[in-house]
Amino acid sequence: MENLKPYLLVLICFSMLACDSTSSKEEAESAASTAVGITTIEKADAELDTDTLRKWTGSCALCHITGNGGAPRLGNAEEWQPRLAQGAEILLAHTIEGFNNMPPLGYCMACEREDLLAMIRFMAGGS
Ligand code: HEC
Repeated sequence: MENLKPYLLVLICFSMLACDSTSSKEEAESAASTAVGITTIEKADAELDTDTLRKWTGSCALCHITGNGGAPRLGNAEEWQPRLAQGAEILLAHTIEGFNNMPPLGYCMACEREDLLAMIRFMAGGS
């Protein structure tokens, strides 16, 4: 049960974003960071726009907050460092094609290359 907590919070956060289409970027982002505030989100300093944040919350967040299946965790520089060292092209290719437990496109069928790159920067903490 304890393990489900961040997952549930992400769902709550996602439904808040999905329902309140009038909310500004700032409101949506602060809602998102409040909702997942007990995890490491505050360590990530790169920003996602509301649309990309919504896509991220519905896909990458499922694994990259708790580290499901060995996923490098959001804002955890130590876990992201060796990944980043491979270069953006390899990271992008692994994201699009899948890599071990990492599913192709990270479950985000609507994500463009730019979205995925922004999400990777966001999760890696802005580097
Ligand atoms: C079902 C769980 C899951 C989802 C959803 C998921 N990932 Fe992952 N991701 C993983 C796991 C597990 C790894 C570690 C794979 C390994 O190194 O064996 C990983 C690794 C990665 C890596 C590092 C790849 C490398 O070459 O080291 C990137 C970048 C990444 N994910 C991006 C994303 C993005 C962007 C999304 C959302 C669009 C996403 N992931 C969604 C599980 C997931």
